[in-house]
Amino acid sequence: MEGSEQVNEISVRVRRRTPGRGRLLAGVLTVATVIASLAVTTLARAEPSGPPGTTLKAAAERSGRYFGAAMGRDRLSDTGFLAIANREFDMMTAVNEMKPDATQPNRGQFDFRAGDAIYNWAVQRGMRVRGHTLAWHAQQPRFWATLSGGALRTAMIDHINGVMTHYRGKLAAWDVVNEAFAENGSRRSSNLQSTGNDWIEVAFRTARNADPSVKLCYNDYNIENWTYAKTQGVYNMIRDFKARGVPIDCVGLQTHFTGGSSLPGNFQTTLSSFAALGVDVALTEADVTNASASQYQGLTQACMNVPRCIGITTWGIRDSDSWRGNENPLLFDRNSNPKAAYTSVLNALNAASTTVPGTTPSSPGPSSSTPPASEPSGPCTATYRMTNSWGGGFQGEVIVTNTGSGTRNGWTVTLTLPGGQTLVNVWNAVNTGTSGTVTFRNAAHNGSLGANASTSFGFVANGSGGTAPGNLGCTSP
Ligand code: G3I
Repeated sequence: MEGSEQVNEISVRVRRRTPGRGRLLAGVLTVATVIASLAVTTLARAEPSGPPGTTLKAAAERSGRYFGAAMGRDRLSDTGFLAIANREFDMMTAVNEMKPDATQPNRGQFDFRAGDAIYNWAVQRGMRVRGHTLAWHAQQPRFWATLSGGALRTAMIDHINGVMTHYRGKLAAWDVVNEAFAENGSRRSSNLQSTGNDWIEVAFRTARNADPSVKLCYNDYNIENWTYAKTQGVYNMIRDFKARGVPIDCVGLQTHFTGGSSLPGNFQTTLSSFAALGVDVALTEADVTNASASQYQGLTQACMNVPRCIGITTWGIRDSDSWRGNENPLLFDRNSNPKAAYTSVLNALNAASTTVPGTTPSSPGPSSSTPPASEPSGPCTATYRMTNSWGGGFQGEVIVTNTGSGTRNGWTVTLTLPGGQTLVNVWNAVNTGTSGTVTFRNAAHNGSLGANASTSFGFVANGSGGTAPGNLGCTSP
């Protein structure tokens, strides 16, 4: 039943895709957009070089981006799915297993077994994981239905704290709030909205405190068309949050071009306009009716043209994995064969003309990832802990704390990995080297630390994590 409700919801929004808005507003938006696009264009860097990638993840990594997929726990026993996931993708999202009803089935009783199973499978293969989602009008813990007002607000805060504490330092991003806007650009009515208009910013502030290291995203569908009322509603909220210092790092555009909807010609404008507000953007749940190769090419190209478009996730891998399987909307068919759309995406990834600022592309990359000639010095500390391990690999976390009296802008951590340990993947920092003595510089979003403030970065490495890294040091200007 819920599945058919979802279908109806998408159909409604598709019919309203061309909103009745005045031409004047469109003109204003166009001017603003051109300015925003110019601002972002100045960040563009040299085209990545080196051989083209032959998998989605290799092609995306050339420009410092990722290529992700979504999976349910049931896919953990699907060897066909796992083979493609392991070969092609470097980011994973749980389809349902990290949602509020899954992670807190009863008040105060958290259950991370399903989410952890997906998380562990992914990180053990060098992937990162996006957290989806913490506060949403759907798939809520059943007991939330008995609450309202302050009690529901408290329950939301408790949920965010409980889940984020479990995944602290482990995830690339959290969709903190999902689908909170209506098609007309106002807030969607929901029990959470009824607790007060500030529920979204409370969710983000709570999230930042719970895990200062993870990127905090607002995620929604039907915000791909720049002139659409809902897009503008979300844009205005993000602009307001940035102006008032509400912590937010990214916007996820679900990119469901399905159920009759299609790629808008102004998609890149939407991405660059959000990015110009100072947030990363990501395509978080892409699928396209009948896997139109031209639409997949276009959505990928739009992302590649915007430096702060950090990655693309498809909502499943094969058509048989899709929530809308009858539309065959994914890059692989039911026999696991890549479609024409796969090739169009791969080519667009390989042809990326921008790189993500602050990342280390897999080929010789932008000047921003080059370490400074002389290292800054100053008071900060670095503390290491192993957060996970498995046969042949482990995951580590380093907490960086500003021990000085003022704000520090930028930090550098050095450590020596014991023999046999080799870095596979690093997040929330930019590394130089993958074995022996390795240097980690802050990423673009976590370099500024107030007095006594902390941040963290993480990595996955091959080898036994039994021996901790040595010579741990931290410097800051
Ligand atoms: O697990 C039960 C199973 O025991 C039962 O027999 C079956 C009968 O209907 O239902 C199963 O649960 C279903 C669940 O997916 C797991 O398959 C739910 O009914 C169904 O509602 C749920 O749908 C999910 C949907 O979110 C719910 O809103 C889809 O899998 C999931 O792909 C979809 O994901 C959303 C994103 O979170 C947000 N953006 C839109 C996207 C697509 O709708």
